[in-house]
Amino acid sequence: MNFLQKNNIHLISDLRTISKSIVDADYSQVYVLMDENTNQHCLPLLQDALVDDEVYFFFLEVPSGEASKDLSTCASLWESLSEDNADRKTLVLNLGGGMITDLGGFVASLYKRGISFYNIPTSLLAMVDAAIGGKCGIDFVGFKNQIGVFQNAEQTFLYPPFLETLPELEFWSGMAEMYKHALISDTAHWTALKIFDKAEVTPQLIEQSAALKAEVVANDPLEKGARKKLNFGHTIGHAVESYFLQKEKPMPHGYAIAFGMICEAHISAQQNRLSLVEYDEIEDYLKTKYEFPTIPEKDFPILFEFMQQDKKNEHGSVNFTLLNSIGSAVINQTATEDQIKASLTYLLDE
Ligand SMILES: NC(=O)c1ccc[n+]([C@@H]2O[C@H](COP(=O)([O-])OP(=O)(O)OC[C@H]3O[C@@H](n4cnc5c(N)ncnc54)[C@H](O)[C@@H]3O)[C@@H](O)[C@H]2O)c1
Repeated sequence: MNFLQKNNIHLISDLRTISKSIVDADYSQVYVLMDENTNQHCLPLLQDALVDDEVYFFFLEVPSGEASKDLSTCASLWESLSEDNADRKTLVLNLGGGMITDLGGFVASLYKRGISFYNIPTSLLAMVDAAIGGKCGIDFVGFKNQIGVFQNAEQTFLYPPFLETLPELEFWSGMAEMYKHALISDTAHWTALKIFDKAEVTPQLIEQSAALKAEVVANDPLEKGARKKLNFGHTIGHAVESYFLQKEKPMPHGYAIAFGMICEAHISAQQNRLSLVEYDEIEDYLKTKYEFPTIPEKDFPILFEFMQQDKKNEHGSVNFTLLNSIGSAVINQTATEDQIKASLTYLLDE
């Protein structure tokens, strides 16, 4: 049994593995939560593999997009579960990207003080990141993941063939989190990822990236210390994501994180942690993969405001994870407003 399997995370090549797990655990009923895209593209594959003569399945669909990760969607899902008298032996199957795994995990964790859920991530981002590590939450009053819990999925199944229908933009969004895992902890993984020009990656690299996340999480499940490494790129990335959400021009999560990683690598270099050679390598590479929208300098204060609200902050100062080198991160760092501004100006002016 490998490290992922010990943590109930399984790379599978046959969806019947999921069906077997459900039947063995003897759930009273099973709700499949999805959005219209995963309903159309992923449910047919899953349904072919589900044994439905022993288990009663219900299907719940919410509109795709970050806007569904909100309290009103939770309320309507809790209403559906209540109307159907879903009991505590009910299972929720989260079939979708990170929006669905975050939302479904949160809804399941609070319904009747918690029912089980399986994550069946269908986007690359969810396979290597969102579906792993037990953070479930929703956005609130304009802030990302403002309300949430730590609750692990009972089981998580990674089935890479789902990626065949994933739009290319979403593929690159997921690659950003893979690059992050490499930059914070594994130089060899960074080198291995850099050989892919096109929107493709092997199941083995997906498994490795998922394992890099799972290992960090296993050492610090509640993010008291080492898990903060995973926040590299996220202080500025989340602010940028929230900014474009507010402007009603949502930016894919991974694109915002790629933006944040370049800025936070720039801050690492300004603080003489990261060498300029390695900074250039990161910046040059990420810029070949991602195009970023512009943000006028007059709007920087809005970004600072979002950074001030970040959940990672303690004692009023904005918290950063920075890089010492490719493959090595340092947590609990601060940056001056000038350093942050310089990184944003540098990226946006280039
Ligand atoms: N909990 C965590 O630790 C964690 C970590 C990272 C990100 N997240 C969250 O994850 C979310 C982003 O995840 P995401 O990028 O997967 O977004 P998403 O769930 O919105 O999916 C992106 C798009 O791809 C579509 N899609 C997904 N799988 C598909 C498939 N196989 N075929 C066709 N279309 C498919 C979706 O319908 C959606 O339109 C954000 O809400 C972010 O905050 C959470």
